[in-house]
Amino acid sequence: MRRPRAALAALAALAALAALGCNPDDVVHRVGWFSTMRHQRSIKPYAQPIPPVPGTVPVTGAEPVLSIQTADRLVNARTRTSESINRGRVLYETYCLVCHGQAGRGDGPISSAAGGPFFGVRSLVNDTIARRTDGYIYAVLVSGQVMGRGLMPVYGDKVRGSDRWDVVNYVRTLQAGAQSPRGRR
Ligand code: HEC
Repeated sequence: MRRPRAALAALAALAALAALGCNPDDVVHRVGWFSTMRHQRSIKPYAQPIPPVPGTVPVTGAEPVLSIQTADRLVNARTRTSESINRGRVLYETYCLVCHGQAGRGDGPISSAAGGPFFGVRSLVNDTIARRTDGYIYAVLVSGQVMGRGLMPVYGDKVRGSDRWDVVNYVRTLQAGAQSPRGRR
């Protein structure tokens, strides 16, 4: 006789909870002196973020998109030491080799020169690019297609600071290798 009564009471309690709106969090919240972390002034998952006030500027500064004219005036911040070249090589082989190829001839695994699907990849070691400024190579690396360079991706967000000049120094090394009788093509 006692058991069914207890079960009934439990059922009634559950029904009352359900009537209050199912979510125990909401129930607790209605009691003034409880607070749950779910109810707070924050952006909820999947909610639209609040855009910053117009005119807001990032405190860490923003990087301008380089034009070829400004690029030519940039000064290489890294001396071409073996340390710089080795660092540049690691970065080049991580980010650039896939398109521009091991020796920089534009024949990386996914470039069209190698019969791949990625068209228009250029050689980084021909005479024309060898005569370009360090700043030019730097700018194409940083801004790529944003400065109107075809399908060349932007790497400014991945290769940062002096690492960029290390890549430039490594590209210069590839060019020097290509000029030697053995590497010329
Ligand atoms: C997804 C393929 C791809 C990758 C990866 C890539 N590039 Fe390129 N790159 C291109 C294409 C395509 C062009 C030709 C852009 C054009 O038509 O102007 C190009 C052009 C360039 C040029 C200008 C060549 C010239 O003749 O003026 C430079 C310099 C360059 N890339 C450097 C780099 C460096 C450095 C990296 C690595 C950080 C890199 N690229 C990674 C596709 C790529």
